[in-house]
Amino acid sequence: MERVQSASGMRRRADALRCGGRRLVLVPTMGGLHRGHLALIRAAQKQGDHVTVSIFVNPTQFAPGEDYADYPTDLDRDCMLLEETGAVDTVFAPTVDELYPTGAARQAMWVQSELLTRHLCGPHRQGHFRGVLTVVTKLFSCCRPHVALFGLKDAQQYILLKRLVAELLLDVVILGHETVREPDGLALSSRNAYLSRTDRAQAVVLSRSVTAARRAILNGERRVTVIEALMQRIIRQAPSARLEYAEVVSTADLQPLEALLPGTEVLAAVAARFGKARLIDNQFVTVPAARA
Ligand code: PAF
Repeated sequence: MERVQSASGMRRRADALRCGGRRLVLVPTMGGLHRGHLALIRAAQKQGDHVTVSIFVNPTQFAPGEDYADYPTDLDRDCMLLEETGAVDTVFAPTVDELYPTGAARQAMWVQSELLTRHLCGPHRQGHFRGVLTVVTKLFSCCRPHVALFGLKDAQQYILLKRLVAELLLDVVILGHETVREPDGLALSSRNAYLSRTDRAQAVVLSRSVTAARRAILNGERRVTVIEALMQRIIRQAPSARLEYAEVVSTADLQPLEALLPGTEVLAAVAARFGKARLIDNQFVTVPAARA
């Protein structure tokens, strides 16, 4: 496993591998690796024959007052975990200066979407998706992957990235990987490390709420207001949860829906804060045909 720090070094390596006919797979991360990342990496191995994991805590996707300074980072521990998988060929761990040559605060060129960030996390995390879309574009430019894998827990990010490559004609396939969960349903996240014992026990309401929404839709509920109220009710069962949103949107354009049309795919998504941890969860659901 090779560790690469410079953008130009990464690009040279990727170009040489491509010339040698290798199929390159990229798993972008911000480090703080957990079992969810390791599942992504195992899935990546099946998609090609050279796996690169990038580790970069991207300053531009943290809104002012968010946890950029506290974000769990331990590059040596992460590299050890990656080495142990035996599945990773390259770790790309650039510095901020490598990815933002004019400085993160002075960046003048951004990739962004107004339409797809109007709902869910968009209004609650100013500039977040602009930072994600911009850094992922940079990572693609350095790592030149044929395929890139992202966790579906970050559903809005995944949908944005699919549109990014479709609309900017980028030559990379985006694949989503199903959310890895604790036995009680809590989605794995680097930010779970911030949870106190009490909050950890209560955070299970997130997965319960989206699972209940999924069940309601599959059982024939078509009224979005009823499904959203159901998710809110479940989250409010946790006294320490501060609900940010509980929404059902279309997966095509992340816009709110009035009613659910059979055959369409929707996303039931929630976000809540527990102490300083801001956690999200979701379920993708295809609305079944109405019963006869
Ligand atoms: O999902 C993440 O960890 C980050 O948003 C990503 C895609 C690595 C970009 O910094």
